[in-house]
Amino acid sequence: MLEIIEEHLKAISIVKIKTKEESEAFRIRYLGKKGFIQALFSEFKLVKPEDKKATGAALNTLKKAAENALLSDVDDIKINKNHNQEDYTRPGYSNLPGAQHPISLVRNEIVNIFERMGFVTTEGPEMEDDWHNFSALNFPLEHPARDMQDTFFLSKDPDWALRTHTSSVQVRTMEEQSPPIRIIAPGRVFRNEAISSRSHCVFHQVEGLYIDKDVSFADLKQTLLAFSKSFFGEKTEIRLRPSYFPFTEPSAEMDIWWGLENEVDHRMTKGTGWLEIMGCGMVDPAVLESCGIDSKEYTGFAFGMGIERIAMQRFQIPDIRAFYENDLRFLANFKGA
Ligand code: PHE
Repeated sequence: MLEIIEEHLKAISIVKIKTKEESEAFRIRYLGKKGFIQALFSEFKLVKPEDKKATGAALNTLKKAAENALLSDVDDIKINKNHNQEDYTRPGYSNLPGAQHPISLVRNEIVNIFERMGFVTTEGPEMEDDWHNFSALNFPLEHPARDMQDTFFLSKDPDWALRTHTSSVQVRTMEEQSPPIRIIAPGRVFRNEAISSRSHCVFHQVEGLYIDKDVSFADLKQTLLAFSKSFFGEKTEIRLRPSYFPFTEPSAEMDIWWGLENEVDHRMTKGTGWLEIMGCGMVDPAVLESCGIDSKEYTGFAFGMGIERIAMQRFQIPDIRAFYENDLRFLANFKGA
């Protein structure tokens, strides 16, 4: 067998492939399913055990040599470079510069505003255990609030799931760092929801967390006001409505004044003029304690917002599915944005 391999190697070393057709014929002859090399591999089992090592190595060398002899696209262009070269009337190759995805644009803008205020960008895993997504955030087992978040469970024991919110990054950060903590955590989250023009089972959130001595609700309000003015414009007004999250107490929903001037405003704000932007609140002392932070010494606030909703408002996109369809006609709108 070694001699046959030798002969093939010699033959390959002198072969001169010049065209794509020759290359394809060569490939079929040597590397095809019914080619020489496949046949040799089939015979390999008959080789005596003591010769197996040398024969195997030689076979692999032969295969490599055959592969190297094939014409690559680059070689093809090099060999046939005269082809069309003189034809200056040929249309040029078009150059298609990309655009940033609208979700990236909005995420970066939100993150930049908070970074300027001194928040540090942090990330966490998309696959989470029950502790980081729920239990440490004060969702006791069997608590109905768990139903608010339709979870994609991955396994029972260990209890893995796709994270339903970026609040899991809060827990990870508090477990690893000691206060003062000031983070902003953008990321992808997953909920088992029916896909429609308003909701999707995969979307993005940005989470914020600030923990230090004497952090108050007034600090939360001013931080969110400063963010809203920076993102939506100097004249923006905000309002905080009481709400409920298991991990914050008190909790609130923040709206911005959008206006009620035309039909679109009415539709977007359901006739109220206010647009709901995010959930927020003071971190519940029980959550601080679960994460090893002394709640007598430290207080903190947290907030979380959905990037898609904000991007839909900013770019007047009526259907959330447009973000995930990879339609170049849609994405091209964001060039230079
Ligand atoms: N995690 C909450 C949600 O997904 C949002 C939130 C974050 C609320 C932080 C309060 C504080 O709905």
